[in-house]
Amino acid sequence: MSIRLRLALLFAIASAVVLSLGGWLFVSVLSSSLLSSVDSQLSAQASHASSYLNGGSQVPLTSGANGPEYVVQVLDASGTVRGSSAEAPTVPIIPATELDRAKTQQVIVTHTRHDEHERVLAEPLPGRAGWTVIVGASLETFDATMSRVTTELVIGCSLFVILAAGGSYLLARSALRPVERLRAEVSDLSVRDIPRMIAVPRTHDEISALASTMNELLVRVRTSLERERSLVADASHELRTPFAILQGELELAQRPGRTREELMTTVTVAAEEVARLTRIADDLLLLSRGDQGQLRIIPVVVGVRDYLDEIMGHAHPRITGHGMTCRVDAASSLRARIDPDRMRQVIDNLIDNSLRYCPRGSVIELRAGARAQDLWLEVVDDGPGFDPTFLPHAFERFRRSDTSRSRDYGGAGLGLAIVSSIVGAHGGTVIAENTPAGGAFVRVTVRNAIWPSLSTAS
Ligand SMILES: Nc1ncnc2c1ncn2[C@@H]1O[C@H](COP(=O)(O)OP(=O)(O)OP(=O)(O)O)[C@@H](O)[C@H]1O
Ligand SMILES: [Mg+2]
Repeated sequence: MSIRLRLALLFAIASAVVLSLGGWLFVSVLSSSLLSSVDSQLSAQASHASSYLNGGSQVPLTSGANGPEYVVQVLDASGTVRGSSAEAPTVPIIPATELDRAKTQQVIVTHTRHDEHERVLAEPLPGRAGWTVIVGASLETFDATMSRVTTELVIGCSLFVILAAGGSYLLARSALRPVERLRAEVSDLSVRDIPRMIAVPRTHDEISALASTMNELLVRVRTSLERERSLVADASHELRTPFAILQGELELAQRPGRTREELMTTVTVAAEEVARLTRIADDLLLLSRGDQGQLRIIPVVVGVRDYLDEIMGHAHPRITGHGMTCRVDAASSLRARIDPDRMRQVIDNLIDNSLRYCPRGSVIELRAGARAQDLWLEVVDDGPGFDPTFLPHAFERFRRSDTSRSRDYGGAGLGLAIVSSIVGAHGGTVIAENTPAGGAFVRVTVRNAIWPSLSTAS
């Protein structure tokens, strides 16, 4: 059921309930006030009852030109009618039980006599013990008034409910029209159309807020779609080169008359390209896990100095092979909770970058320290540093500075993205900048990694 219909129905039910209650209240008040006016007329008639005794006035009394005719009876203690108005019957017009009560107190009842609704008042006759006076009046006018009022009320209220339901339906329809337009616009959008924006109405109401929020969502979807598209394009571009080289080398190897040395060179090149392909695939897998929050971090308490010394020890042959030197600067008492394998991948990537982009004779420094409960790790070199225009994009995937685009020199451009992903999974942050002397500087900060933590120590 549409919202419009539901609103109309709800409004109709609510107004029907309210009007019924109001109508019932009105009818009850009206009925009791009319009856009390009839009762006071009856009482006035009763006060003249003695005039019916001893051949008094036999003319029926009325309350005015259009008023009811009254039936008056004066009864003695035995219940015999001793005086009455002209059209009054000769037997009491109220039952014996009520007649008995009327000897001591005023009794007012409504009953039906000769198929006619009648209001009857009976009370003791003053000055004559046991005598009673009974005055009755037809309720025909009262009944007619009440029935007319009730009918008019029912018709009026029903009309009001129908009008209210129709009105609320139209109101809801016009209020929801912009929502429907919005829905139609969004359903028209295809994936290709996502750059398109939804028209925001200038009404400054909930609908325009909804349209703005939808536009914000579209921008986010578009950004992530563009990122995904460019990632796929970059990945396929990056994979095409090693595949092309591999294919070329294999075709070369197939040619007749190749010497053993030539074949060995082909195999060596092919193995290098396969290694490159495997590395890119591994890197992409790690990044995708990081994106899905599935990069599992298993923190272990490590002595930071020993940990860094060990990493440098493993990297030492590569470093000296590049004609470079390295040093570690960290307090031997420093202990922290990190995932040693993942963090080693971070540091190795940064050392690899220094090895790749710094000239022979450069120095790579590995520093670590604590700021409050946070562990910071820095890899600093004294090479040429980052291209300043590249720095804002340093951690984006497949991003390389123009100077390192050549294949011999640069990698796939995933190393720093992986650093950022692993540090992010540790709940930390990473920044890249140049030192005042011009070398590259990368700082990783892992929050609350220092061990023992303040809460544990206390
Ligand atoms: N120590 C450094 N000195 C100078 N430039 C650097 C240094 N480290 C990184 N860069 C620049 O940052 C870019 C991105 O580095 P990143 O590690 O992400 O990719 P890559 O080294 O080119 O490839 P990959 O690491 O995937 O093999 C590099 O292409 C290089 O231009
Ligand atoms: Mg790298």
